Amino acid sequence: MASNVSELMTYKAYLAGEWKPSSSGETIAIKSPYLRETIGFVQAVTQEEVDEAIRAAHEAEKKWAALSLSERGAVLNRWADELVKDEEEIARAVMQEVGKGYKDSRKEVVRTADLIRYTVEEALHMHGESLRGDGFPGGPQKKLGVVEREPLGVVLAISPFNYPVNLAASKIAPALMAGNGVIFKPATQGSISGIKMIEALDKAGLPKGILSLTTGRGSVIGDYLVEHKGIDMISFTGGSSTGRHLSKQSAMIPLVLELGGKDPAIVCEDADLDVAVKSIMNGAFSYSGQRCTAIKRVLVNEKVADKLVAMLKSQVENLSVGSPEEDSTIVPLIDDKSADFVQSLIDDALAKNATLVTGNSRKDNLIYPTLLDNVTEEMDVAWVEPFGPVLPVIRVKTDEEAIKLANKSEFGLQASIFTQDIDRAFAVAKQVEAGTVQINGRTERGPDHFPFLGVKASGMGVQGIHNSLISMSRQKVTVMNLK
Ligand code: NAP
Ligand code: G3H
Repeated sequence: MASNVSELMTYKAYLAGEWKPSSSGETIAIKSPYLRETIGFVQAVTQEEVDEAIRAAHEAEKKWAALSLSERGAVLNRWADELVKDEEEIARAVMQEVGKGYKDSRKEVVRTADLIRYTVEEALHMHGESLRGDGFPGGPQKKLGVVEREPLGVVLAISPFNYPVNLAASKIAPALMAGNGVIFKPATQGSISGIKMIEALDKAGLPKGILSLTTGRGSVIGDYLVEHKGIDMISFTGGSSTGRHLSKQSAMIPLVLELGGKDPAIVCEDADLDVAVKSIMNGAFSYSGQRCTAIKRVLVNEKVADKLVAMLKSQVENLSVGSPEEDSTIVPLIDDKSADFVQSLIDDALAKNATLVTGNSRKDNLIYPTLLDNVTEEMDVAWVEPFGPVLPVIRVKTDEEAIKLANKSEFGLQASIFTQDIDRAFAVAKQVEAGTVQINGRTERGPDHFPFLGVKASGMGVQGIHNSLISMSRQKVTVMNLK
């Protein structure tokens, strides 16, 4: 395989433990969002190759599941070591392929190694339980139930473009630790990074067949994978419309969905505005807002709105804009279509009399950071997830109004509340419909051992290391009937 993605090359797929070109003879060009040129090609895997990969995973899974936890853990720990060894090369691939700042790309690789190691430790320390029959009224004393966890079979891991290494490994590591086989379908824009990550796993000595990497467009092989009878569980991260589609296709298969968001930052009149501004800036604009957990709207009490907007304006105007190679905060969006979409939201808001505080300029897929004030419910930007650097400010009179607007969204991933009154913070947090509420901090997924979930259109099921191990295994009860 290539040692440097800047050498234009064709990457092979990893099918049943072998690196090979697809029999389709077709490849997909991967274009860098900021270089605006093709940086490599990946295989368009066929349905027959998917069949073979799933068959091989089932065959290998039995032996893999029979290994001890420590033996499986040793392979995964070596994977973490390999990732760290290849940190610079993988980070460069992430940067070039999805346009994430180089430093953040390196952090993603290191975070992934940490996540894998923690997954191993967590699995080693997850114990079964035993139950006495007489714990239930009238239950027999001589019945003893032993509850253990078993793998599900073959897990389909589908990841999005914006964390092509970390959000893939956060599915693959628990699936493997729980004893499953894995079919990994990366986002097409993210495939080269995924390939580099799986190269590291291959080097770590993963037994052949247990995992296959099936590159190809979701629109072409996605439904085939999701509906395949050989898939026993699906772990998906991506957009809400794709997630909704998957949940219809995957009848009777356990499914975990981590989807989109419209995370609000609720700023009360007693908030420490320095803290709020720092968190909102970082939450809304890092990686140009291409994070599911980005702060995507500000609901601010009108008493402090002028001050907050003025503070945000000066910070937005100081954001670095440019290239991921220079670690700019604002970088070109993943593709031109995404930039067109963000621009359409800005245009709609301005046509409906939102106040342009700063921004609204564009070069190709680079959207300059844009702050909109006096946004109203009639504007699309109040409700739609932009996945780009535009931040709408909605002024509210009371906490109740903020909560009402927060909950009126179809999404419910996370929310932030800024106030110096802890009772008030908990009272608001209790009423906001979201998987997680952050008090005086930005919305974010980590630390990665915390439960991570969305409600409503933001997801189904729970991720985070412990919960992923649970969702990728099932309980098995053996009952001893003593003499
Ligand atoms: P996406 O377009 O929904 O794609 C996600 C994944 O689904 C990709 O691997 C894609 O493959 C695949 N896919 C597409 N159609 C499919 C089908 N019919 N069957 C099976 N797989 C299919 O999302 P994205 O643009 O990569 O990511 C951005 C979205 O993800 C945002 O909405 C963001 O909020 C959300 N997200 C959520 C979380 C979270 O944890 N809640 C984390 C990150 C991102 P192709 O690339 O080949 O189309
Ligand atoms: O894009 C969605 C990710 O789950 C967000 O992760 O909050 O660590 O950036 P993050």
